[in-house]
Amino acid sequence: MVASAALDFASSKPRNTTVANSSKIVVDHASKLFLEGSVVAFRNIDLQISNREVLCVVGPSGCGKTTLLRCIGGLLPPSSGHVLIDGQTVDSPRAGVAIVFQHFGLLPWKSVVDNVAFGLKIAGASRDLIAERLDHYIRLVGLAGFENHYPYQLSGGMQQRVGLARALAIDPEILLMDEPFASVDAQTRELLQEELLQLHERERKTMIFITHSIDEAIILGDRVAVMGSRPGRIKEILSVDFPRPRDPAAVRAESRYTELRNHIWEELRPSVVMQ
Ligand SMILES: Nc1ncnc2c1ncn2[C@@H]1O[C@H](COP(=O)(O)OP(=O)(O)OP(=O)(O)O)[C@@H](O)[C@H]1O
Ligand SMILES: [Mg+2]
Repeated sequence: MVASAALDFASSKPRNTTVANSSKIVVDHASKLFLEGSVVAFRNIDLQISNREVLCVVGPSGCGKTTLLRCIGGLLPPSSGHVLIDGQTVDSPRAGVAIVFQHFGLLPWKSVVDNVAFGLKIAGASRDLIAERLDHYIRLVGLAGFENHYPYQLSGGMQQRVGLARALAIDPEILLMDEPFASVDAQTRELLQEELLQLHERERKTMIFITHSIDEAIILGDRVAVMGSRPGRIKEILSVDFPRPRDPAAVRAESRYTELRNHIWEELRPSVVMQ
């Protein structure tokens, strides 16, 4: 195992509660238990995410990534501790926060356009704005021509792209993304990663991006949080200081990319092997 001190990147253990005022999202000593405490999804998580930061989260299956994202999105209350956005406790879903769900979360009785337009309509956007955004984001995710299809008529990857377009279309301040590219093929995944990097250059949204791909986490993230399981927790947070705008191929050619990737893999290996 490579000693993190020997590497040319900053590593920090999650700190105890002290909340930085500049943080956009704060998770303060949060735990989530299910089934009267018999299932611990995660325990004692502290996180501070700055405005416009991209935090990628990696960790073994079942370590609480989705549950943590749902707590941050206001869909689930933590069992103890707090989640704050802009200094205010999150106790329900908030305007300006969009979630791309791991299992798509599409409305099966609505077509692609109607699914993508859903959040905009709820927000009271004008017909012109809705038409403009639909056109832009449906094209961006490569679904032009499928506007009138229903979710059951689409592959898993296409459904995932509808979920992505729906989240982007409302122009959220905060994007919470749960393995958004997991079901797309490898080529589409690389294209979507590039699109997301460009989107971040243009609009600098605050993002939490869950992925099982160490490569994706390093390419996209300003930091990578490595979670462990039993109980779900944050083991380490690593800074990824490649300058932006980033060219994924150039990042992959850097020796620091390989160091980071190996280091994260060594962190994950014990939990993965245990499963
Ligand atoms: N509603 C629920 N009721 C009971 N247990 C739950 C519930 N939701 C999640 N869990 C449990 O909480 C733990 C964390 O689940 P979670 O879905 O957050 O993991 P994950 O890290 O997202 O996994 P994956 O990588 O497979 O998506 C698991 O043990 C899971 O079984
Ligand atoms: Mg999950």
